[in-house]
Amino acid sequence: MHLLSLLMTEINSLVIRIAAPQVREVEMKNDEYVLRPLDQQEINRLELQHQVWKNETDTVIRMAKFKAGDRLLDLGSGPGFLTWDLAKIVGPEGSVLALENSKEFIQHVLLEVKAQQMPWIRAEIADVRTYDLEPSSLDGAICRWVLMFIAGADQALARVTHALRPGGMIAVMEYTQFRSMSLWPRGASFKRVYEAVHEFIARNGGDADIGGRVPALLDQAGCEIVELLCPYGGWADPVRHSGSGSRPRARTTPI
Ligand SMILES: C[S@@+](CC[C@H](N)C(=O)[O-])C[C@H]1O[C@@H](n2cnc3c(N)ncnc32)[C@H](O)[C@@H]1O
Repeated sequence: MHLLSLLMTEINSLVIRIAAPQVREVEMKNDEYVLRPLDQQEINRLELQHQVWKNETDTVIRMAKFKAGDRLLDLGSGPGFLTWDLAKIVGPEGSVLALENSKEFIQHVLLEVKAQQMPWIRAEIADVRTYDLEPSSLDGAICRWVLMFIAGADQALARVTHALRPGGMIAVMEYTQFRSMSLWPRGASFKRVYEAVHEFIARNGGDADIGGRVPALLDQAGCEIVELLCPYGGWADPVRHSGSGSRPRARTTPI
């Protein structure tokens, strides 16, 4: 299958320089992250995506009240751009566990851990659906643009909530309307590419619009939903509970 390198560049209400599209040969196995090959170009793309969504992500992190000394999980960390932000917040008294199933991305995290001298980051190659986490070993967790790619998002969330201490917080950022992204001036091929990616993710068991279902999935996983944020409009099914305080809590940002 051919994919363009600009596929996932976020365009929402921002003007972004888009590199000339390059056609790449992509080999896929079932369940595999859609934007292979995971090389420097993909790392650069994720860094750009991180910058584009920095304000929204910082808002979510603030709302989750992550703080110095916390033990946090970055679920599906990619090359670690969000991991550093978390590591700066928790500091050497805390810890960040980055779980990611790409060996190349974990290597990138580990190189940066060394370069930035942040030994309180631990990074492991793992499938987030099957990785064993100790009960009550986490104060918080964050998951950004990961559930959309995996068949078994419920399994991944169940494992995280099992590992959160009572009252611990999970923050999730996923899209509700993946295909709403568009170019101006309009580009028919851009739309076709987004349709193709949406369909491709679905064919591999994912759901690019999973954001709207995340509250229900968190509810099933035993969380109390404390906040929903839709920064660019959109809608998510709000599942709310009058909090007993004993369940893990959740903040979600369907986008
Ligand atoms: C769009 S990237 C997002 C990376 C990072 N969360 C961020 O916000 O920059 C999606 C990541 O999820 C990872 N991923 C997908 N399925 C996974 C799984 N089953 N277990 C662990 N990581 C997975 C991919 O390898 C990829 O790094």
